Amino acid sequence: MAEVRLRQVSKVYEGGVAAVRLLDLAVADGEFVVLVGPSGCGKTTTLRMIAGLEEVSEGEIEIGGVVVNEVEPCERDVAMVFQNYALYPHMTVFGNLSFGLRMRKVGKQEIEGRVEDVAKLLGLKGLLKRKPRQLSGGEQQRVALGRALVREPRVLLFDEPLSNLDAKMRVAMRSELKQLHQRVGRTTIYVTHDQEEAMSLGERIVVMNKGRVRQEGEPVEVYRRPVDRFVAGFLGVPGMNFLNGRIEEVSGRKVFRLGSVDLGLPERFNGMLEEYVGSEMVLGIRPEDLLPSGGGCDRMSIGCTGELPMVVKVVEPLGSIQDVYLEFGDSRIVCRCGVEAGLKAGECVTVKLELNRIHIFEPDEVGANVTSNSNLTGLES
Ligand SMILES: Nc1ncnc2c1ncn2[C@@H]1O[C@H](COP(=O)(O)OP(=O)(O)OP(=O)(O)O)[C@@H](O)[C@H]1O
Ligand SMILES: [Mg+2]
Repeated sequence: MAEVRLRQVSKVYEGGVAAVRLLDLAVADGEFVVLVGPSGCGKTTTLRMIAGLEEVSEGEIEIGGVVVNEVEPCERDVAMVFQNYALYPHMTVFGNLSFGLRMRKVGKQEIEGRVEDVAKLLGLKGLLKRKPRQLSGGEQQRVALGRALVREPRVLLFDEPLSNLDAKMRVAMRSELKQLHQRVGRTTIYVTHDQEEAMSLGERIVVMNKGRVRQEGEPVEVYRRPVDRFVAGFLGVPGMNFLNGRIEEVSGRKVFRLGSVDLGLPERFNGMLEEYVGSEMVLGIRPEDLLPSGGGCDRMSIGCTGELPMVVKVVEPLGSIQDVYLEFGDSRIVCRCGVEAGLKAGECVTVKLELNRIHIFEPDEVGANVTSNSNLTGLES
C-alpha cells in the first residue's frame, strides 16, 4: 500500500516564513489528488516535504504506513516531476529515461525493457536518440514524466508539470495524464494553481490558501458547495458573483434586500438565516446560474421573486456561449448564457436567479458560507 498521510505538518522557512500550517492530508493508495491554490499558498513546499527535499518543521509524514520524516529522499520511493522538467541537456532521451535506474544499478536488460515500455506508453519510441533541445515543450514534458514513471515509484508527485505548455497542448496533455493514471493507477499528488486543471484532473481536490487547507472533496462537490468565499471565488471562470445586501424577513419569508429590491430566498434557507435577519451579508451566485431575458424591466414585479432588473453593460461572445456583464445600482454581475439570448449593451433586462444555486456568505473576505449544508438539495435538482 502506498498511502500518503500528512499529520499536522507545518513548515517555517528560515526568516520565519510560515509556508505550510498544520496541514492534514490523506491520499489513498492509487488515488489522484490535486492540491490547488493561489501562488505562494504552500503547494510546492508540501510536495518537497513529501519527497524529502525539504525538512518538516512540525508534524509527521507517512508513506505506506511508515513515518518518513527521517528517511532520505532516495529511500522514500517517490518520484517528482518538476515544472521546468529539469532534463539532463547533454543526455539523449534514452539517457534521461534510464539515468535513475542506472544509478540504482538495475541490470542492463531490465533497464532496456522498462524504458521501452514507458517510451511506448508515452509515444516517445521514435525520439530516444534525441537530446532535449531537439524536442518540443510537450515532448520534453513527456520525457520528464517518463523519467518518473520508469522508476515505478510508489508515489508520483507533480509540480505544475503543464504550465510551460501552450493552452492547446495543456488541454491535450491533461487528458493524456488522466488516461495514464487510469492505466498505471499509482498514488499521485498533483499541484497546480490553475483551478480548471484541478477540476478536470482530480478525483479529489484540496483547495489551499495561506498554507492551510480550506476545503477538500470531489471537484463538483467543492464547486457546488464551497465552504467559504475564498473557495467560492477561487473555483470557476468567470468567478462567482458576490452581491452585498441585507437579510430581512417579509411576511414570514427570508429575503435578500438589494437596494430597492427584495430577492425572495428559498424556503429551506428559513431556519439557517434566522440569526442573520437584519445583518449585512453577501449573496453568491455563479454566472451560469443566471438567466437574462430581454424585453425591458417594466414587467418586473418588485417583491419576493428571484428576479433582478439590470442593465447590460458589455456582451462578450465566446462562440456557442457569451459572457454578459450587467449592472444594478452599485452591483455588477456577470452572467454566462447561450448566444440565443441576443442581448445588446445598454439594454434593460430581467435576470432570473436559479434559486437553488444561491449561497449566503458572512461579509468578510473569506466569510463562511452559512447556507452550504442546504445546497445538497440544489445539487440534486
Ligand atoms: N526556500 C525558501 N525560503 C524562504 N521562504 C520560502 C522558500 N521557499 C518558499 N518560500 C515561501 O513559502 C511560501 C510558499 O511557497 P511555495 O513555493 O510552497 O508556494 P506555491 O504554492 O508552490 O506557489 P506557486 O504557485 O507560485 O508555485 C511563499 O510565501 C514563499 O515565498
Ligand atoms: Mg510552486
